[in-house]
Amino acid sequence: MLALRFFFVCAILLICPPILIQAQQPYIRKLSTNCAVTNASTSVFGYACNGVNDTCQAYLTFRSKPPYNTVVSIAGLLNANATQLSQLNLVSENYTFGTGETVLVPTRCSCLGQFYQANTTYVIQSGDTPLLIANDTFGGLSTCHAINTERSNLTTDIYTGSRLTVPLRCACPTEKQAAAGINYLLSYLITWGQTVSAISAIFGVDTGLTLQANELSETDFNIYPFTTLLVPLSNPPNKSQTIAPPPPPTTSPPPSPLSPPPPTSANDHKWVYMLVGVLGGVVLTFAIGLCIFYLFFSKKKKTTPPTVSSASQSFEAIVKPGDKKLDIDEDSEFLESLSSIAQSLKVYKFEQLQSATQDFSPDCLIKGSVYQGTINGNLVAIKKMHGDVSNEIRLLNTIHHHNLIHLAGVCFDDGHWYLVYEFAVNGPLSDWIYYNALSSNKSLNWMQRIQIALDVANGLDYLHSYTTPPYVYKNLESSNILLDGDFRAKITNFDLARSAEGQEGQFALTRHIVGTRGYMSPEYLENGLISTKLDVYGFGVLLLEIVTGKHVSDLYEMVNKNLSEVLYDVLQEENTDTNEKLTSFIDQRLQGNYLPELAMSLVKLIDGCLSKDPSARPDMNEVSQYLSRILTASQAGALSVTISVQAR
Ligand SMILES: *[C@@H]1O[C@H](CO)[C@@H](O)[C@H](O)[C@H]1NC(C)=O
Ligand SMILES: *[C@@H]1O[C@H](CO)[C@@H](O)[C@H](O)[C@H]1NC(C)=O
Ligand SMILES: *[C@@H]1O[C@H](CO)[C@@H](O)[C@H](O)[C@H]1NC(C)=O
Ligand SMILES: *[C@@H]1O[C@H](CO)[C@@H](O)[C@H](O)[C@H]1NC(C)=O
Ligand SMILES: *[C@@H]1O[C@H](CO)[C@@H](O)[C@H](O)[C@H]1NC(C)=O
Ligand SMILES: *[C@@H]1O[C@H](CO)[C@@H](O)[C@H](O)[C@H]1NC(C)=O
Ligand SMILES: *[C@@H]1O[C@H](CO)[C@@H](O)[C@H](O)[C@H]1NC(C)=O
Ligand SMILES: *[C@@H]1O[C@H](CO)[C@@H](O)[C@H](O)[C@H]1NC(C)=O
Repeated sequence: MLALRFFFVCAILLICPPILIQAQQPYIRKLSTNCAVTNASTSVFGYACNGVNDTCQAYLTFRSKPPYNTVVSIAGLLNANATQLSQLNLVSENYTFGTGETVLVPTRCSCLGQFYQANTTYVIQSGDTPLLIANDTFGGLSTCHAINTERSNLTTDIYTGSRLTVPLRCACPTEKQAAAGINYLLSYLITWGQTVSAISAIFGVDTGLTLQANELSETDFNIYPFTTLLVPLSNPPNKSQTIAPPPPPTTSPPPSPLSPPPPTSANDHKWVYMLVGVLGGVVLTFAIGLCIFYLFFSKKKKTTPPTVSSASQSFEAIVKPGDKKLDIDEDSEFLESLSSIAQSLKVYKFEQLQSATQDFSPDCLIKGSVYQGTINGNLVAIKKMHGDVSNEIRLLNTIHHHNLIHLAGVCFDDGHWYLVYEFAVNGPLSDWIYYNALSSNKSLNWMQRIQIALDVANGLDYLHSYTTPPYVYKNLESSNILLDGDFRAKITNFDLARSAEGQEGQFALTRHIVGTRGYMSPEYLENGLISTKLDVYGFGVLLLEIVTGKHVSDLYEMVNKNLSEVLYDVLQEENTDTNEKLTSFIDQRLQGNYLPELAMSLVKLIDGCLSKDPSARPDMNEVSQYLSRILTASQAGALSVTISVQAR
């Protein structure tokens, strides 16, 4: 049947060569981000209603990014049917996608006036602009121009909390496409480094057809990240196609891709992590070449600029198909990086990881895309990742600290990165601290809590003060702190970490924060400012959770605006004899386990960390010294800490 259809398509193509299937929809190019241009081509508003039908089934792709990283949240954002979305992606309805993972989204596309669109409703959040909504939240599935037409009847400002119709870019096949057997158009979100031919290859589509569908040609094929490319499809797309295209083809074909099956029955895995010992000799397989090539590809591209006229700085031009096979062996930069990485980072073969995890069996799935495995008798955590992981690898490869998770090695296979980490026996801190957590039999005593806080502070201090360049972690939350067998803390998940230098231009990242909003400092939420003081604020929130046993979202419910309001009553009490407020403030499970004076010192520390003014917050080094005193005093049973948080 399929073969027949294939034959049929081929026959049609032979009879009417692709060149006759004329231009369908002009590619948007870079116009989409220039919101001020009003005379722009109409393509910025949407794809023209030039199809056979006014309404059709269409598909979108979306890149998962917290808080839009679950089946339900993505379906909600894009007004899609969650059941269909989960089926299309071969995952369960409660699945959480990895950050950057490509998600296929089914949608109904309809013609409204001149343009096709798939409507969705979006609730405006603090700090949103049309560009941020279109580019960052929707990743380019809509444009600021299209959003502006929708809100033209509103006042000029967009208000937090108000609802906005966002038209998503979709299209229905034209008569000529239909005649060529094209039944669906998929609005593919382009990401860094992709080419029309690579995207076509993902979906098994002829490059020529894709070029034509977007009014591009063999001589005019440049495409840009965060714009949509229409991919003409005969059959509905399926999950096995959405994995990122691997770097240039290699000698040995990779094993067929296996997308991990949805998490099935609740597997009672204890989060068991343990240190990975030093693993056997490094084999410099071609995998290294691939890894390094991938890692340094972007750097490389700058030295061999592609044939693009005046590409704007913020957009990376896309290399011509064929140009991709750079002669990496001759590149000294490449050789240097190879040797520096090979010394410290193990490169695993995919087969090793397969056997470590029983071929990524659901039984080995810990959570999300993290698997537990055993390599050479040592337990490891293996995280399957998509997209650009070079940030995390580069960072983890250069830092070595007892309180930062250790990256044991990496593997690249078939478009996916696999990062192999040390394993921490007791799992995430979030499993342990919340009073109302289901696993309420898990609890930590006062000393353990202070030790964990100190560990996290030491890890952050190291990132801030002892790495070059200094890093801001940016991702502080209880689920990103893992506990080893001795309940010592290790910070994990470095994909958001940023160098603290060159902070301008990071404003766009504001969209990242929504998922862990409660931990984010006011200046970051309001102005996108990134500094090490952002982590200090996040640390204050974490410490608040640690001592109260309450989740940050519950704490927010107790206040009007600023989280530090929860401390007011307690701080008022300082000079009185009663400890009532303090007693009800501290986690009830700690009753009788702490000295009130020390708890009060901790409250003051939290208050300092939560200062609205970043410069009024202590730095991580001060925090760490202070906590270390509290810990020592707790051990000694001393009544109060002799140093005090600097008056602020
Ligand atoms: C839009 O206007 C600018 C000048 O205001 C001009 O340079 C540009 O060519 C115009 N673009 C189109 C598509 O007309
Ligand atoms: C979603 O799709 C499923 C399966 O196609 C269907 O049974 C269900 O009614 C749909 N839900 C909505 C709200 O349209
Ligand atoms: C999309 O939203 C517009 C209003 O913003 C509405 O007029 C139109 O009917 C909607 N289209 C669909 C298919 O729901
Ligand atoms: C669009 O978003 C991406 C990632 O979120 C960002 O890198 C890019 O700079 C944004 N583009 C504009 C014009 O803001
Ligand atoms: C804006 O208002 C005009 C006239 O009042 C109406 O024709 C148009 O459909 C409205 N647009 C939207 C997006 O609601
Ligand atoms: C147009 O709609 C008709 C009737 O619903 C359907 O049979 C046909 O396949 C559609 N054509 C395309 C190209 O979607
Ligand atoms: C996915 O699509 C490819 C290419 O169209 C096809 O060969 C494969 O059988 C499809 N897989 C599923 C599970 O539908
Ligand atoms: C997802 O839902 C299924 C049932 O639909 C359930 O068995 C499974 O435990 C759920 N997984 C998670 C992680 O909640």
